Amino acid sequence: MHDFSLSIRLWYRQNKRNLPWRETKNPYLIWLSEIILQQTRVIQGKSYYLKFVNRYPEIEDLANAKEQEVLNLWQGLGYYSRARNLHFASKQVMEEFSGKFPSTYKDIKQLKGVGDYTASAIASFAFDLPHAVVDGNVYRVLSRYYTDETPIDSSQGQKLFKAYAQDLIGNEDPAEFNQAIMELGALVCTPKNPDCESCPLQEQCSAYLKSSQLDFPVKSKKTKVTNKYFNFFISSSNQLQIEKRKGKGIWQNMFQLPLIESDKPLTLNDVKSITKKKWNTKTQNKITEYQHILSHQKIHASFWKVDSLITNESEYITVNLDEIRDYPLPRLIDRYLEENHEAYGNS
Ligand code: ADE
Ligand code: SF4
Repeated sequence: MHDFSLSIRLWYRQNKRNLPWRETKNPYLIWLSEIILQQTRVIQGKSYYLKFVNRYPEIEDLANAKEQEVLNLWQGLGYYSRARNLHFASKQVMEEFSGKFPSTYKDIKQLKGVGDYTASAIASFAFDLPHAVVDGNVYRVLSRYYTDETPIDSSQGQKLFKAYAQDLIGNEDPAEFNQAIMELGALVCTPKNPDCESCPLQEQCSAYLKSSQLDFPVKSKKTKVTNKYFNFFISSSNQLQIEKRKGKGIWQNMFQLPLIESDKPLTLNDVKSITKKKWNTKTQNKITEYQHILSHQKIHASFWKVDSLITNESEYITVNLDEIRDYPLPRLIDRYLEENHEAYGNS
């Protein structure tokens, strides 16, 4: 009988995907890939990873970049605080670690935006240190394998599943163990349709034996989602007004169309009277509406056509549609422009 670790390692050697960040031991590149992969799936992650590596081959290049340029490259991934932290951390490496990427778990974890998962991934993949990673894939595989009902969103659960993984990893090629358990979760032990018939753990897996795969992992709370209503305004010309978003919160330092936020959906009449009062311009009609779901918020974005540009407010800059790609935009606005304005182009 194979044990857990050996079974998944043998499976991994036969079934792993060839991914660019698996070809390197360079901690900068591994860190970059892990931050991107927290935000998106492997297929999309690959193209962002290659874009970043191409533009910033060394961590020094990233540290010397302008924040706006980094946000621009990140465009479409969402959660822009991750991109800001990435940029900040590259400067930390230059300043606090003399340009040399830190090589111990403890030092790696000092970097902004790096928690236990990312520090363990870099420590094991780049430096062969035996730190077990626990991401969503690992929670799923282990909670099913042991039919452990401890909620994964409790601090007790986080400690427990980390301890399970740490017990299993061993000192021999910890990088392979970490890749293998994540890959099994990504390809076989999937959330909705685990392919137990192809799984190397089937014979010992408690959830398989009890046919209770879909009861795991257990979560304690449903995340409470608040609805937000964003109303954006566009004039009829080929010029757009945009402003840089201030303050904390989503889309910090990105650019947006003139915006009115509300807690409830606004009717055409509501909007007409607000734009008349605020900007002395008339709203004609609603162009379209999108929804954007974040972890704690659901954003309902309406795009409204107005008669004229909002000319008298200094915080707005006026740009031509074909120049707007130079500004980092939230994906929502990017998508609106792509689907509604020819001149924006699709490149
Ligand atoms: N998801 C997070 N890290 C990953 C990695 N190194 N390979 C594939 N998918 C991942
Ligand atoms: Fe997941 Fe099924 Fe494998 Fe168990 S046997 S680890 S439930 S894929």
